Amino acid sequence: MPKWLNDAVFYEIYPQTFCDSNGDGIGDIGGIRSKLDYVKSLGCNAIWLNPVYDSPFMDAGYDVRDYYKVAERYGTNEDLKALFEEAHERGIRILLDLVPGHTSDQNKWFLESKKHERNEYSGRYIWTDSVWEAPPQYRLLCGISERDGNYLVNFFSSQPALNYGFNNISHPAWQKAPSDPDCQATVEALKSIMRFWLDMGCDGFRVDMADSLVKNEDGDKPETCKIWRSIREMLDKDYPEAALVSEWCNPRVAIGAGFHCDFYLDHDNNGYRILFREKDQSTGECNAVFAKNSKGDITKFLDEYLEDLKDTKEKGYISFITCNHDTPRMTRLFTPLEAKIAYSFIFLMPGVPFLYYGDEIGMSFMEGLPSKEGGFSRTGTRTPMQWDSSVNCGFSNAPAEKLYLPVDTSDSAVTVEKAEKDPDSILNTLRKVITIRHENPSLRSDGDFEVIYAVKEKYPFIFKRGDFIIAVNPTDIVQKAPFAFDGNTVFEIGNHSKEGNYLIMAPQTLLLLKI
Ligand code: GLC
Ligand code: CA
Repeated sequence: MPKWLNDAVFYEIYPQTFCDSNGDGIGDIGGIRSKLDYVKSLGCNAIWLNPVYDSPFMDAGYDVRDYYKVAERYGTNEDLKALFEEAHERGIRILLDLVPGHTSDQNKWFLESKKHERNEYSGRYIWTDSVWEAPPQYRLLCGISERDGNYLVNFFSSQPALNYGFNNISHPAWQKAPSDPDCQATVEALKSIMRFWLDMGCDGFRVDMADSLVKNEDGDKPETCKIWRSIREMLDKDYPEAALVSEWCNPRVAIGAGFHCDFYLDHDNNGYRILFREKDQSTGECNAVFAKNSKGDITKFLDEYLEDLKDTKEKGYISFITCNHDTPRMTRLFTPLEAKIAYSFIFLMPGVPFLYYGDEIGMSFMEGLPSKEGGFSRTGTRTPMQWDSSVNCGFSNAPAEKLYLPVDTSDSAVTVEKAEKDPDSILNTLRKVITIRHENPSLRSDGDFEVIYAVKEKYPFIFKRGDFIIAVNPTDIVQKAPFAFDGNTVFEIGNHSKEGNYLIMAPQTLLLLKI
């Protein structure tokens, strides 16, 4: 386990909309390089960079055409190498996004695989053995190649699934076992890609749809796990400082498979959604635990979390995110104060936390945008970073109509420049919280977590991390808990008081107490 993860705080950068250095309306590596000091000023010492590989951008770069080449619109491989170096000079690590489950349908492997003549890549993807073979349980594209067969897609139609084999084989004519040489060749190709970027200086990978490799396997996905374990062996041996973070949302399984961290994501009926994004289906009203008018139930979250924490203890970390490029920003449902409390809580939890660009200033989810590069309902979360009061909020010098996505230039738009000046801004609040986290080992990734007060539909929620007590009352009414304490307030949003053996938390407050 790379030691640095214990004190890592990540910043996720969506390259197309972070900072445009050459005025073409699209963010780029030069732009990111110019903002490394800003990232550092947040207390973030690691970056997750969404895909920057050559791509036709049918899914914003998650459709990779060439795994070995930086997309022209972002710069060159040399620029990326320079980014690694400049980040390292500042003590910042960089994870690239690895897309192992599928490629673009324009990837040269796939162009070869489509050919009638057998070649090295014929078995790199999953093809049925005839165009008339199209079992309805699979998402297949049919009748569009010279090769006689249909191919499986992994996500959008332009993303053919790479072939890692099948666990339960139902159609032996075309489904291979993971041990088949074709499937093994796919694993080797993946390892080569990883080595290429690690050798250039990247610090590891966030792995896209990490659970999607071997098909027809349920539950704990043993064959997919076997592949990741072999990759982890490669890292332990040759790149022991490299980190592997999964998009899996099942920490027990993912960490068991060799990942160092696994995300808690905004998925149906899970603990993360209950905390931050739960909506009443009929009224659309937010009833997440962190909503101010909430009757949210913290125990539902804890039922899941405490089990996951126990199962992964000392093996890997659960990663909380403020948001990511796939899910609405919390500010779609939350006011700035609600968001500030929710984000602060995230950086006071165990595991390796991730801050999504723009959340630190409370950027909003832009409603009603047409889909951009396969974004669909995710597009409103991907708009340009708002830096300052200059043209296009400092994102780009291009004319507004040339921008990758519109930037919020309304008078009320938040910017880094404005947030810097307000001591109570989300930005300055998170800087404080993250600094305190770095300064105190018990608040870092591997620090303990103990529930002190968590009652169904009641607040505050109180927990302990080593020599710290954290109490949070996200609701807009006064809340009290039977909890007597002695300690120093290290950090606070709003205020609290004591009444006999009770802790009284004013509306919408968070308290960090050193005992
Ligand atoms: C992951 C990515 C998402 C992408 C999908 C297909 O969920 O986060 O943005 O569209 O995988 O690669
Ligand atoms: Ca640019």
